[in-house]
Amino acid sequence: MEVRPATIEDVPRIAPWTRDTFDWGDYVADRIPVWLEEPESHTLVCAEGDEVIGLVNVVMLSPTEAWLEGARVHPEHRRRGIGSLMNQTGLDWAKEQGARVARLATEEGNAPARRQVESMGYRMVSTWAYAELNPLQRKPIAGASRLQPAPSADIDAAWMSWLSGDLSRAGREMTAIGWRWRTATPDDLREAVREQRFWQSPAGWVILGHTERTVAASGWLATTPYAAPDLLEDMAATGRETGLETIALRVPWTPWMVEALTRAGAEPEPVCIYAIGL
Ligand SMILES: CC(C)(COP(=O)(O)OP(=O)(O)OC[C@H]1O[C@@H](n2cnc3c(N)ncnc32)[C@H](O)[C@@H]1OP(=O)(O)O)[C@@H](O)C(=O)NCCC(=O)NCCS
Repeated sequence: MEVRPATIEDVPRIAPWTRDTFDWGDYVADRIPVWLEEPESHTLVCAEGDEVIGLVNVVMLSPTEAWLEGARVHPEHRRRGIGSLMNQTGLDWAKEQGARVARLATEEGNAPARRQVESMGYRMVSTWAYAELNPLQRKPIAGASRLQPAPSADIDAAWMSWLSGDLSRAGREMTAIGWRWRTATPDDLREAVREQRFWQSPAGWVILGHTERTVAASGWLATTPYAAPDLLEDMAATGRETGLETIALRVPWTPWMVEALTRAGAEPEPVCIYAIGL
């Protein structure tokens, strides 16, 4: 058994046993070619003879923060230490790149994955909610504001408001970039202004960008318990006007945020973020 960097030839050896990993299927076979092209990523496989029986991707999200994703072990080869061996090999690589911390996400209900990373010393540091708003399926609420592009003059106020609020505390000052989490910085807001992804309404600020024509996603928002329902309505109102079918949100799991999401028609699902120091 050997852990080594993945190549494109490994894809057909992994695809057959990763079709039905979860209830909803799996994405890893399609994603490996993307990871292999990504300079910050290091994709590892575990091979035994001609068989490839494990996979994980490690990516540097900042000079000191690594992220692990896509951990898969062939169903017939689980509980042989392969998941942990690949994870450790990924951590060794990340440390060489300068990482001081490595993180990963699991669904709250994925007990095997949680037990496995806990057995390696990872600690659960934060729970986030994944929730989808469907603006076109909801009746407009009278009085909702619209999101407006936030100017760069808003950056300091938005940053301070976020930093002193519940969301940054519960979310350990992280932002989600798709299914990857790292420490947020004011540069994230600056970049979002430049790319016209930084929005404001009277209820707060949000980084919100298209991921497809009718889909947008946000992994950072600043609001208060009192204003959160309004911010979600403002997002939905703007989404409705611009033909967005889905707004995918990743927000720190606080009771008031979960309540606001539920009232907005979403079904928040808990996602656990684990971290280990290197
Ligand atoms: C999660 C996964 C990668 C673990 O890989 P693995 O090679 O079986 O894990 P390991 O053999 O390294 O496990 C090490 C330890 O973790 C714990 N563990 C692993 N699987 C467990 C399970 N099903 N139940 C309870 N504990 C478990 C045990 O403490 C285990 O040590 P032990 O076997 O000596 O008791 C594998 O189950 C998998 O591919 N699952 C489906 C995909 C998935 O959920 N990926 C993670 C997405 S976040």
